Amino acid sequence: MVSLKTQIAGFSFDNCLMNAAGVACMTVEELEAVRQSSAGTFITKTATLTPRQGNPEPRYHDVPLGSINSMGLPNQGIDYYLDYLLTLQESHPQRAFFLSLVGMSPDETHMLLKKVQNSGFNGITELNLSCPNVPGKPQIAYDFETTERILSEAFAYFDKPLGIKLPPYFDIVHFDQAAEVFNRHPLKFVNCVNSIGNGMYIEDESVVIRPKNGFGGIGGQYIKPTTLANVHAFYQRLDPSIQIIGTGGVYSGRDALEHILCGASMVQIGTALHQQGVGIFERVSLELKAIMAQKGYEKLEDFKGKLKYLA
Ligand code: DHB
Repeated sequence: MVSLKTQIAGFSFDNCLMNAAGVACMTVEELEAVRQSSAGTFITKTATLTPRQGNPEPRYHDVPLGSINSMGLPNQGIDYYLDYLLTLQESHPQRAFFLSLVGMSPDETHMLLKKVQNSGFNGITELNLSCPNVPGKPQIAYDFETTERILSEAFAYFDKPLGIKLPPYFDIVHFDQAAEVFNRHPLKFVNCVNSIGNGMYIEDESVVIRPKNGFGGIGGQYIKPTTLANVHAFYQRLDPSIQIIGTGGVYSGRDALEHILCGASMVQIGTALHQQGVGIFERVSLELKAIMAQKGYEKLEDFKGKLKYLA
């Protein structure tokens, strides 16, 4: 019997696959489709204090090896997602779900976290430190001082399960410095990675998205090697009490297996879910189980983090 069961922050999930924040999670209708699929759980679109329209369209474009987007944080506002999650807690008390949020300023981030802290929400919160698409706002997680300050301030009052969504890092020194910051805080997980920020895709002689003259976050096949390196770098460096969620370049069971080998306890699907719809969870699950059966693995723990190095 092969199982894809996993745990994050002490909550159990029957399947280690779920959506990545930003995909299939803007509305209750989309979230319900993920909830009723083979996915183990879902995460909601990163929420701000008030609803946002986001950037002008076209702002997402599928390309042969992935996607490019500059959505600009369109979302229904924190109350919409919290209200839905509180309703689900009543109807499905045995399941846990993820809520993603970030403020347009540190003050707003604290207002959001305090709202969650003071609500009846008993699921998992993901603080998004890696949105690359709001003009004039740098990615928080590339600024270690600001990251340290926000986490210190947050954990002074926030005591529900909290993790962070990270951008990719590209230098070993940055893995070291980031891990040092994260290890100082009672984080339940880090999620590696958000899109590779500010890429560009050209068709004929033109960019393909309108915001920021075509600069946008890159996802899909392009980013898997960077993702796997980030998952493994943090798996090697973080205290074992901080779990890893792997996100980036997952289209197949083989891709999910690689994330878990690198140390991921949960694997999220973004671009491929956008392109293929919620049926992808069933297909990737079957593929992953087939590879596990072939290798004699019964559960994720049999190979999680057991990446082999060359002698
Ligand atoms: C958006 C993109 C992101 O990568 C993210 O983490 C949050 C928001 C966006 O453009 O909407």
